[in-house]
Amino acid sequence: KSYRLAILGATGAVGTELLELLESRNFPLANLKLLASERSVGRSLQFKGENIQVEPVSDRAFENVDIVLASAGGSTSKTWAAVAVEKGAVVIDNSSAFRMNPEVPLVVPEVNPQAAANHQGIIANPNCTTILMAVAVWPLHKVKPVQRIVAATYQSASGAGARAMAEVKTQTSAILQGQPPIAEILPYPLAFNLFPHNSPLNDLGYCEEEMKMVNETRKIFGTQQIRITATCIRVPVLRAHSEAINLEFETPFSAEEARQILNSSPGVKLVEDWETNHFPMPIEATGRDEVLVGRIRQDISHPCGLELWLCGDQIRKGAALNAVQIAELLVEKNLLKPLAISH
Ligand code: A2P
Repeated sequence: KSYRLAILGATGAVGTELLELLESRNFPLANLKLLASERSVGRSLQFKGENIQVEPVSDRAFENVDIVLASAGGSTSKTWAAVAVEKGAVVIDNSSAFRMNPEVPLVVPEVNPQAAANHQGIIANPNCTTILMAVAVWPLHKVKPVQRIVAATYQSASGAGARAMAEVKTQTSAILQGQPPIAEILPYPLAFNLFPHNSPLNDLGYCEEEMKMVNETRKIFGTQQIRITATCIRVPVLRAHSEAINLEFETPFSAEEARQILNSSPGVKLVEDWETNHFPMPIEATGRDEVLVGRIRQDISHPCGLELWLCGDQIRKGAALNAVQIAELLVEKNLLKPLAISH
């Protein structure tokens, strides 16, 4: 069996990766539509050696489509997801538009694949830092429930899109030539710099990105009991995020046991060479499917605390790969049955 698929936002950083993954994972495709804004009219993208024309998004574009992979920002998803669902497609949405909607499953296939079965047309792909943290923390949480998580993130430019990645390169080269860096997409120069994530701040002083880690992790893990706090920082790395994570359990969790568990957990690769100080690095996480985890150690400040460090490709597992895995899950579990839409 094969499926008719559309990528909304095909020309973006995540869209381009979606194309690559559908090809390399040999997703069973009957047809592939590439949708973007009017700006991309006339462009075409390569898929399996063929050029496919990019179409501007419209009502009609969603006709005869089984699955939409949407990665064109929250407002575009809000405009088009309902249209696509109405036309009979299931939308896997990478934006934050529907993630906290109680009727929309929020899925990391290694953690809560069963949640996908409850979809009513839309399945949300979680925030990138949240996905990476969930993949690494869930296997430990299953053995011994986590009470509290304290996270600090080091987030790459890719999270702000393809144009932000290009901007960091331009800024870097400007600085190397003695010119001032210009910031147009990002709020401040990122080359040779870093700054707190610039999503909107709430009354408590937390930015939206930090609150996504709090609220989305609880929804994915299916518990409101975990206390979570985070500080999210943008760093001049192109496409892999890093996270320093402190976990607190009710009783001690030995570093050796955590290491053994993570060594055989899906989607995780242990990277720990204590002799050479070789631990996860964004440069080595780039282009890889797994979340690299290392520096697992007892927290010397708390008897039930554990420290770990991770890196994961933001565009891949943080976005495109997770979305394709959800699509594979839908196909595998036969969850694409026509929706009961009353016309
Ligand atoms: P376009 O290239 O035509 O602007 P990124 O996250 O890398 O910035 O990519 C965003 C993606 O979302 C691009 O493919 C972009 O298309 C698409 N996009 C942005 N705004 C819209 C819109 N209003 N309608 C359709 N696609 C959009």
